[in-house]
Amino acid sequence: MLVALWSIGLFFSLFTFCSSSDKDCIVGIVGHAALLPCYHQNELLSFHNLSVEWRRGNELVLKAKWEEDGDVVIWSLNHATIPRRAPITGNFSLELPKVSAKEDQMVYSLFVTSDENDTVPLCSMCLRTAARFSSPLLQKDEMAESNRTVFLCQSSGGFPKPKVYWLINDTEQPPEDSVRTNATPLPDSNLYNVTSLLTVNISTDDSVSCSIQNQWMNETLTSKSSGAKDNTIRSRASEGMWMFSTGLCVAVGIMVGAGVAYQIHLDRISKKRRVLYESTKAQRRYKKHQFLEEETQEEALTSKETCV
Ligand SMILES: *[C@@H]1O[C@H](CO)[C@@H](O)[C@H](O)[C@H]1NC(C)=O
Ligand SMILES: *[C@@H]1O[C@H](CO)[C@@H](O)[C@H](O)[C@H]1NC(C)=O
Ligand SMILES: *[C@@H]1O[C@H](CO)[C@@H](O)[C@H](O)[C@H]1NC(C)=O
Ligand SMILES: *[C@@H]1O[C@H](CO)[C@@H](O)[C@H](O)[C@H]1NC(C)=O
Ligand SMILES: *[C@@H]1O[C@H](CO)[C@@H](O)[C@H](O)[C@H]1NC(C)=O
Ligand SMILES: *[C@@H]1O[C@H](CO)[C@@H](O)[C@H](O)[C@H]1NC(C)=O
Repeated sequence: MLVALWSIGLFFSLFTFCSSSDKDCIVGIVGHAALLPCYHQNELLSFHNLSVEWRRGNELVLKAKWEEDGDVVIWSLNHATIPRRAPITGNFSLELPKVSAKEDQMVYSLFVTSDENDTVPLCSMCLRTAARFSSPLLQKDEMAESNRTVFLCQSSGGFPKPKVYWLINDTEQPPEDSVRTNATPLPDSNLYNVTSLLTVNISTDDSVSCSIQNQWMNETLTSKSSGAKDNTIRSRASEGMWMFSTGLCVAVGIMVGAGVAYQIHLDRISKKRRVLYESTKAQRRYKKHQFLEEETQEEALTSKETCV
């Protein structure tokens, strides 16, 4: 039950339907598999010598032909697949093993051809591709002579081009001409690196935050530089690391403290024991000594007596 709910959740999170344009779009995560759903329950069982084609624009992506004896011959680009039992189950969904950013906004269509010689378009949908940006890195550079501060916000490896927002003290938007944003496409993957510069004249007490919004990922990543009191610049992830390391330090400190205290306690006990032991030994020695002395005295006495 739990697994089923989880997989449904995963399904909806990975392949979010969106109706921004006239066609339904499927969002595929770059580098992951994507499923382009297509279902047809009726009539197909009556088709003979059924063959289907998935096309991306005009390009053929997959062709499958079911023979009369039930055998299926599949040809495809980039290992795309279709369920072998599609004519029986009516599930003609196309599975792409690895989505690339280049496929963004391409239209995928399924055409069905039967012996009756009519080619019927069954499904058509667009694919939107998305890739997560790295957590933004925010750097501050004070230009002493001009009284201005420059903030640099950088993030890499995302898709599509993000929107970059700056906020001063969590509420004020800086003037438009104080921001310069640049998204650079990476040559191999078509993903983007984004760099944004904010040049402002603000007091050192003011906080500044930079947000990278990825519309298709439905994700906004924020990095914040707090004011003068705490001049460290951190993103949420590094804040987590900071808290973790502080926690670790405190825990180790407590453990070391407890260890030292225990050791001191043990030392004290053993010292006490040693002192006790030492004193009893001394007492014993003293007693023994006394006893010996008495003995010798007695001996002396007796010898005197014998002499007498
Ligand atoms: C299916 O195709 C084969 C040859 O490709 C043909 O011999 C056969 O008659 C066809 N079946 C039907 C029901 O049209
Ligand atoms: C349709 O087939 C795909 C690929 O095998 C599968 O992932 C999906 O769950 C199937 N859909 C249904 C409703 O069974
Ligand atoms: C049926 O298909 C054949 C070959 O694929 C083609 O030559 C023929 O013109 C088609 N017939 C119709 C009515 O479309
Ligand atoms: C993109 O950013 C990454 C990580 O900061 C960096 O290693 C890479 O060189 C950048 N690529 C380009 C083309 O700017
Ligand atoms: C920045 O603001 C301070 C006071 O807030 C002002 O004295 C200074 O001249 C300003 N600098 C620039 C370059 O606008
Ligand atoms: C995007 O995320 C927000 C907040 O997590 C959520 O409320 C919203 O439903 C999401 N939208 C989509 C299309 O997933």
